[in-house]
Amino acid sequence: MSNEKRYRIACLTGAGISAESGIATFRGMNGMWENHSIEEVATPGGFARNPLLVWKFYEARRRQALTCQPNKGHIGLAKLQQVVGEENFCLTTQNVDGLHQKAGTKNVLELHGSLWRVRCVKCGQEREERGLFDELPPKCPCGGMLRPAIVWFGEMLPGEIFESAGRAATECDLYIVVGTSGVVEPAASLARVAADRGARVWEVNPDETPLTRMCERSWRKPAGEVMGEVAEEAVKRAAMKSEWRLI
Ligand code: OAD
Repeated sequence: MSNEKRYRIACLTGAGISAESGIATFRGMNGMWENHSIEEVATPGGFARNPLLVWKFYEARRRQALTCQPNKGHIGLAKLQQVVGEENFCLTTQNVDGLHQKAGTKNVLELHGSLWRVRCVKCGQEREERGLFDELPPKCPCGGMLRPAIVWFGEMLPGEIFESAGRAATECDLYIVVGTSGVVEPAASLARVAADRGARVWEVNPDETPLTRMCERSWRKPAGEVMGEVAEEAVKRAAMKSEWRLI
């Protein structure tokens, strides 16, 4: 095995990267989603009270996401992974829409779950489910009710996935943050971990965020417009060994 040091790139994305694919971001919604309160449709209590309402909401999101395509932001990151190699690139997303995978990115860490997975509330089995359901709320073969495998407010993030995301932030030389408001923890702390461990942090976001001040570079543009350039700059960085982190 070679002992040669590798230049590692990690990336954190949020709703902003899917905005140009037609999926609405979260902030600015005043705690409302399509006329539902977040409490009603995105908490375990809301699901216990009215599973049908919650499922109708998620089926509508799934139906919409099925028609959406990855944009140049997703594609730029997928190409970056191809160029630097899967073993040197780790993408963590807060998004549940699956567009990074559709663009070709491998080993995506989905911190907040996925619209395309379901879990039985009785037997706990989780499985992929890409089709829309004929009947809501859908049932597991064991007879239990299925729920979206999404992390709702008040729930823990999947431990192993968060650990892997933390490891990627700790070990990387460059951390690229795209399209996140940087206000939802613990995801936002990942960029801080990377910066504290000596990585360069870059941000792609039309607006400033609480993460901006720790960034070496910021692109104040929509991700779809600048991701090609950001990816090229990242590849250049990877080629400049003098820029590598020394700790
Ligand atoms: P937000 O909606 O909080 O933030 C979206 C960010 O994307 C904002 O900072 C925008 O300025 C930026 N943005 C908008 N259009 C963009 C574009 N074309 N290119 C780049 N950036 C753009 O979304 P998140 O930060 O992802 O959690 O929100 C984090 C979490 O809060 C979500 O995962 C969700 C929500 O509560 C759960 O559902 C558990």
